[in-house]
Amino acid sequence: MKAAVMYQKGDMPQYTEDFPEPIICGKDELLISMKAVAIKHIDKSRASGKHYSTTGDISHAKVIGGDGVGVLKNGTRVFALGNGMMAEKAVIEKDRMIKLPKGIDDVTAAALPNAVAGSAMALRFRAGMKKGETILINGATGFTGKIAVQVAKYYGAKKIIVTGRNEETLQSLLALGADEIVSVKQNDENFIAQIEMIHKSTPIDIIIDYLWGHTAELILEALKGNGSFTHKTRFVSIGSVTGDKIQLSAEILRSVDLQLSGSGMGSWTKDEMRKLFRDIVPKMFRLAANNKLKVETKSVDLKEIERLWDMDVSDGTRLVVII
Ligand SMILES: NC(=O)c1ccc[n+]([C@@H]2O[C@H](COP(=O)([O-])OP(=O)(O)OC[C@H]3O[C@@H](n4cnc5c(N)ncnc54)[C@H](OP(=O)(O)O)[C@@H]3O)[C@@H](O)[C@H]2O)c1
Repeated sequence: MKAAVMYQKGDMPQYTEDFPEPIICGKDELLISMKAVAIKHIDKSRASGKHYSTTGDISHAKVIGGDGVGVLKNGTRVFALGNGMMAEKAVIEKDRMIKLPKGIDDVTAAALPNAVAGSAMALRFRAGMKKGETILINGATGFTGKIAVQVAKYYGAKKIIVTGRNEETLQSLLALGADEIVSVKQNDENFIAQIEMIHKSTPIDIIIDYLWGHTAELILEALKGNGSFTHKTRFVSIGSVTGDKIQLSAEILRSVDLQLSGSGMGSWTKDEMRKLFRDIVPKMFRLAANNKLKVETKSVDLKEIERLWDMDVSDGTRLVVII
């Protein structure tokens, strides 16, 4: 079958036309004919063995891709989570798929769920977001950040503050529901001062962070208190595009009512995962199908996988491979 295969850890995936088809082993498994698979950060870090969730032997040839859209034997179109999805056929588990509504195309449906997990799970479960809260999204110009702005708005955010380095994309977020922009390109003092000013006028309830690294340090510095009562802020780490480590002063933790947590595989309970599959993602599929959620994608050819794998896409568009 046609597939994108990583022959050795750390190599570029290769397009091949003669990879063996996968075989169903358990009664809860199904064979699916794949149609569209998005290229995401997690696919790259898992394929290279660097992601904390990477398991098993990655020294032999493997089909890449962890989720996507396909068609079951009975013709039902589904989004499914699994392994080895960037190929003509893949094996999935029955309880790890979502039937797609009419009106959403394969490419949009393949791109959306990872960004929904990367925004809604943090807002709803790690931060416990309530209607009328003020949300700051650090690194909002990426694909997941753009979805996060819309999800936060949909969940009833009163005010959404977005940070990023790309001025044009930051401006475009205003049309998606953002209220205020903070550029990460200004100097550290000005960046901190702007966040402090915002926090003083509209206390920030939740920070969801895709960048970590230096800007996370600056945002935490901006929250630092002076010994008087402070507003409770829940900071949720979702990604670490600009660094996996930060320096955190103990004084910040002592001087402010801060809840620091992370959202990703391993932090979610079984019940939260069930809600993601049964409630949250299906709802977002319906919104997208009714043009109430803007999802920016670019379809690309499976044959091009080697060239596309490491490509930087700078405007928050998701590349989706058509099988
Ligand atoms: N935990 C989860 O459930 C989950 C789910 C989805 C995603 N994530 C993680 O979230 C992160 C973002 O994902 P994504 O899908 O939005 O990726 P993406 O579309 O590639 O966006 C990357 C973002 O990082 C920004 N960026 C890159 N280098 C930067 C720098 N030096 N300074 C400032 N900003 C910089 C980009 O800004 P420009 O727009 O200027 O290029 C863009 O906003 C990744 O780490 C991903 O693994 C986690």
